[in-house]
Formats: sequence, C-alpha cells, structure tokens
Amino acid sequence: MKPHSVYVTRRIPQAGLDLLAEVAEVDINPEDAPLTRAELLEKAAAYDGVIGMLSDRIDGEFFDAAARLKGYANYAVGFDNIDVAEATRRGIPVSNTPGVLTDATAELAWALLFGVARRIVETDKVMRSGAWTGWGPLQFIGGDVKGKTLGIVGAGRIGTAMALMSRGFNMKVLYTSSSGRHNAVLEDELNAELVTFDRLLEESDFISLHCPLTDGTRHLFDASAFARMKETAYIVNTARGPVIKEADLAAALKSGQIAGAGLDVYENEPAMDPGLAELDNVIVLPHVGSATISSRTDMATLAARNLTAMLRGKQPETCLNPELFKG
Ligand code: GLV
Ligand code: GLV
Repeated sequence: MKPHSVYVTRRIPQAGLDLLAEVAEVDINPEDAPLTRAELLEKAAAYDGVIGMLSDRIDGEFFDAAARLKGYANYAVGFDNIDVAEATRRGIPVSNTPGVLTDATAELAWALLFGVARRIVETDKVMRSGAWTGWGPLQFIGGDVKGKTLGIVGAGRIGTAMALMSRGFNMKVLYTSSSGRHNAVLEDELNAELVTFDRLLEESDFISLHCPLTDGTRHLFDASAFARMKETAYIVNTARGPVIKEADLAAALKSGQIAGAGLDVYENEPAMDPGLAELDNVIVLPHVGSATISSRTDMATLAARNLTAMLRGKQPETCLNPELFKG
C-alpha cells in the first residue's frame, strides 16, 4: 500500500495519473461525467487528497465532509468554484493550474475573435448546406481586425498573452485593471493604455474578457454595458460565463446593439441562454480554452505535483492559500 490515497473526479491525461501513482493509491471517476454532489462529498470524506474540476463546488460543506483531506488541487486556473477562505479556516491547502494554459486560452480568444469577425461558423454552414450560389460582392461582409482597437478586461497572464498576440495586426490596445495597477509589459511592448471601464466600452472594436469571476466582475457586462459599446464592436469571452449577463447579451446581439460575440463559457454551464442558439452573429464553443495537448497534459502534471506536495505537508507550487505555510 502506498502511504496516501487520492481521488480524481474526472479522467485526466495519463501523465498526471502516473505521477500520482508514484506516491498514492489513485482512484478515478470511471464515468466521463461530473460526480453528483453526494458522490463528491463521499469522496471528500474517504481520501487524503482530491483533484477536482471547475464543475465541482469545493465549499464549506465539502471541507466539513473531508475528515482526512490534506489538500485539494483544482484542475483549472480559475478557482471561483473553490471557497478558499473556508479551506484556509480549516487549514486545508488548495491549488490551481496557472501558467500552463495561458497561450492555449489566448489563442482560442483569437480564434473566436477572427471567427466572429469573419463569420467563419455562419458561412461554413451556408457552404455545407449547399445554399451558396457563387461569389458575390456584398456577401458575408465582416469586420476588419488590423488597426482596430482591442480592449482587454483583466490584463493578467492570459489577457497579457492575448494582447501581445495582436502585434501582427497593429492594434491599439486598451486595458482595465481592477487593482488600478499598470501592466508594464503591455505598456512597454504595445503602448497599451490603462483606461476606465467606460472608455474601454466606448472605444474598443473588440473586447476580450480575461478577468476572474468575483463579486466585482459578476454581470460586469449587462444591458447598460452593451448599450455603451459601439454597434460595430465584438465581445469575446474565454474567462467565466457569469461575467456576462447572458440574456442581456442575447438581446444586444439580436437587436444589433453590438455586432457579434464569441463565447467559450456560459452563465449556467453546460446550459446556454436559448436566445443565443438562434443567432448567426455569435459563436458558441463548449469551454475548450485549455483544450490543447500540451495544456491539458501540463495541467495534469502540475495538479499532480501540487497534490503530492500537499500530501507531504509542503507548500504546492501554485498555492491559493500560501499563508498556511508561513511561520
Ligand atoms: C478553465 O476554464 C480553467 O479555469 O482552467
Ligand atoms: C488568470 O487566471 C490568468 O492566468 O490570466
């Protein structure tokens, strides 16, 4: 018997499981589906360590059930699914997977940006349906990208990477910062400008969301925000769904208040506002920002290293409550 026992709530790439198997008996959810709440609480009680998904709610109830838990590792960078304060109060370390999915998520934001601006999904459907009648000068006209203004909401790792990828398109870059802190990389490399949320709304041709979901960002984009955007502007969300009030977005897209949207995340995943499905000026993807071979593999090995450290009573590489290890 290995000294530790670990439960993984969803099958993850083998490289992470192999690392865990060196130090622990590892059990994995055999279904390719999230655990039910009751199953999650049962696993919390029965194992020394858990690797969980962004769809698992890791809250006070979870930690109350977790009699022997030495650590919880999130298989995601976003950690709005974890009540970190409740973990800290009970002395349980928790971790996430920053860094390893930065470029993959930034690239997907660009895929959505170009996809919606150039109507890639809508026109692919026309082609497949056999409805295309031949080239036409007024057909399927989309938005320009080069030289336009890109607005970044949340210039952290992913927002910064996304903005830096605009270099080939000679864009003017604006960004907001909830802390008010300047992003030296963006300012030095792109002459980016830190602006108020209002200016970002009013001046951007493309707005790309990269902020975490917090009380301060929930429904940041609602009817009043869309009303302040240009009618020719697009919004891209690869961050967290609830940053956008989805019903308000559907209404703004339908009325032509904004030009289009590219979404990878939703307010109530896996559901989406039914109004969105009827619209051609939105691309909807099933939360695949980190879904590349290297990102998903590196998320697995980072989560495994994090959990291994926690099982040994050590501070994990990317700890969300490092204060537990001070002093
Ligand atoms: C995915 O959304 C993540 O936070 O890793
Ligand atoms: C946020 O989680 C980031 O990595 O930008």
